[in-house]
Amino acid sequence: MSRGKVILSLRNITKSFTEDSKTLKVIDGISVDIGEEFVAILGPSGCGKTTLLRIIAGLEKPDGGEIIFTSKDARIGFVFQFPTLLPWMSVLENVALPLRVNGLSWQEAKERARKYLSLVGLASFEDFYPRELSGGMRQRVNLARALAIEPVLLLMDEPFSALDPLTAESLRSEVLDLWLWGVTSVRTILMVTHSVDEAILMADRVIVLTARPAKIAGIVDINLPRPRDRRSADFQALEDKVYELISS
Ligand SMILES: Nc1ncnc2c1ncn2[C@@H]1O[C@H](COP(=O)(O)OP(=O)(O)OP(=O)(O)O)[C@@H](O)[C@H]1O
Ligand SMILES: [Mg+2]
Repeated sequence: MSRGKVILSLRNITKSFTEDSKTLKVIDGISVDIGEEFVAILGPSGCGKTTLLRIIAGLEKPDGGEIIFTSKDARIGFVFQFPTLLPWMSVLENVALPLRVNGLSWQEAKERARKYLSLVGLASFEDFYPRELSGGMRQRVNLARALAIEPVLLLMDEPFSALDPLTAESLRSEVLDLWLWGVTSVRTILMVTHSVDEAILMADRVIVLTARPAKIAGIVDINLPRPRDRRSADFQALEDKVYELISS
């Protein structure tokens, strides 16, 4: 069961890739309803997680099945697994560019970009260039860029896995706070992760995928109050439950 009203339904999504006459089945019948909630998608490397997000974002066409957005405004933000910032553009221009592409004037785009840079704590870095930023700051720019299009649905593909543990931990709680406080347009987050700990720390539900071709091995509800305590018995019991699904 999704939480809140359903905003996205996946119905029996399938996907294969064919290369050199070899066919690789990647997604094998995924069906799930997603509401106004934070959902983590957990699965082994290469199982098809990025492909699933790309299908939801409309960047990849499924072979079969249906993706149904129930809201008229189905704007989607995407924080990519290997994001690229344009090196010759400032932080502000990097965030403003997609808005420009969406039809805003440069001035409007820059105003909007400033707002989101400030939400992610980069207000004073708008004139910096990507090479002048730390990895954590770059990831904040990626987040600001995704938020600035004011999406209802935010897709994040392993957004913290390239960061050092301390930076990752503070960015995790900042992203959660932004979402919980409702200061952005985002109502639903779908986050791909490798980390059981991260999934249980952040999400309302954890979807565990099988190895390729990806099917849903199980869905675990995380009914813990936030902020969550990793050392609590309830947290650890949920970890056990998720690990059981992974090894099933
Ligand atoms: N455009 C493509 N053409 C051919 N094969 C592809 C394409 N995209 C993905 N694949 C293959 O599909 C499988 C799933 O890839 P995907 O990137 O979705 O996995 P993933 O779960 O995100 O992996 P990781 O955890 O390493 O990020 C892989 O075997 C990959 O090689
Ligand atoms: Mg991936």
